[in-house]
Amino acid sequence: MLATRAAFAAQPEAKSISVPLGTGSLSVAAQGDWQASAPVEYEIALQLDLYLPYCQPRRRGLAVAHIGQSLDGRIATENGESRWVTGEADLLHCHRMRALADVVIVGTRTVQADDPQLTVRRCDGRNPVRVVIDPELSLTDRHSVFRDGAATTLVIAAQEYAKRRGEMHGSEVLGVPRTGRTLSVSAIRAALGQRGLSVLFIEGGGITISHFLEAGCLDRLQITIAPMIIGSGRFGVAIAGDRPLDRAFRPRIRRFNLGADTLFDCDFDG
Ligand SMILES: NC(=O)c1ccc[n+]([C@@H]2O[C@H](COP(=O)([O-])OP(=O)(O)OC[C@H]3O[C@@H](n4cnc5c(N)ncnc54)[C@H](OP(=O)(O)O)[C@@H]3O)[C@@H](O)[C@H]2O)c1
Repeated sequence: MLATRAAFAAQPEAKSISVPLGTGSLSVAAQGDWQASAPVEYEIALQLDLYLPYCQPRRRGLAVAHIGQSLDGRIATENGESRWVTGEADLLHCHRMRALADVVIVGTRTVQADDPQLTVRRCDGRNPVRVVIDPELSLTDRHSVFRDGAATTLVIAAQEYAKRRGEMHGSEVLGVPRTGRTLSVSAIRAALGQRGLSVLFIEGGGITISHFLEAGCLDRLQITIAPMIIGSGRFGVAIAGDRPLDRAFRPRIRRFNLGADTLFDCDFDG
């Protein structure tokens, strides 16, 4: 996948590229359709199906979110415990998605609850830039993203807070406008895009992802469902207000087995 991504990055206008695969070659079209010069094992074919659509950096960028939830739609318990809802295969999947992204984005509550590193450790690939959405610069310096030096961390804040403080715990602060308490996610995409960071992997939590979804700023949403019922706790996607069924999102769906879990890859672009 990394070779395919690099090949598309080198030839962004190419309608298809060719990369080595085993002793043969793999031809990949811009939307991810592929053809191998020799038969490919089933497991490898599944990986090509899943990841190749994410290997071509599009001109207007790509925003992909991922959430792991229970059958009853919970991403964490009431007190924020979420390790782990989904299994090893989904964790590996997240690391692969990080490796294909320019940035990995999380909200303040995920940083507070999980203290994530947001680096690529379970597969090959470079670490993406880590982006924390912290509107009023409330996070303390005790979190790994500010301490471990493993990758660059950027903080996204409300404009008025960013004007007062351009740096937080050694990380640059980027200001974006907000309406009420909600930061403009299209402004977040634009601010990152201006720095050449156009492939976004939004890893949670539910509130952060829901802001992107509601604003129509998500190209893809990956929901991995684990065969468990938590019974209470925090929701994944949740948009405030009464939404009639005729306003439901109806993305194109692809399904993949990830160990005991099922990944629904929702495409809002198609
Ligand atoms: N199962 C999974 O896949 C998964 C993944 C990640 C996290 N989690 C779990 O989910 C929980 C956290 O998720 P969550 O949904 O409660 O919170 P979250 O999305 O992590 O963080 C939400 C907070 O981020 C800030 N924020 C993000 N986008 C914003 C926007 N567009 N405008 C304004 N503020 C924005 C706000 O901070 P302020 O409150 O400071 O205004 C908001 O309250 C934790 O328990 C974590 O363990 C689970």
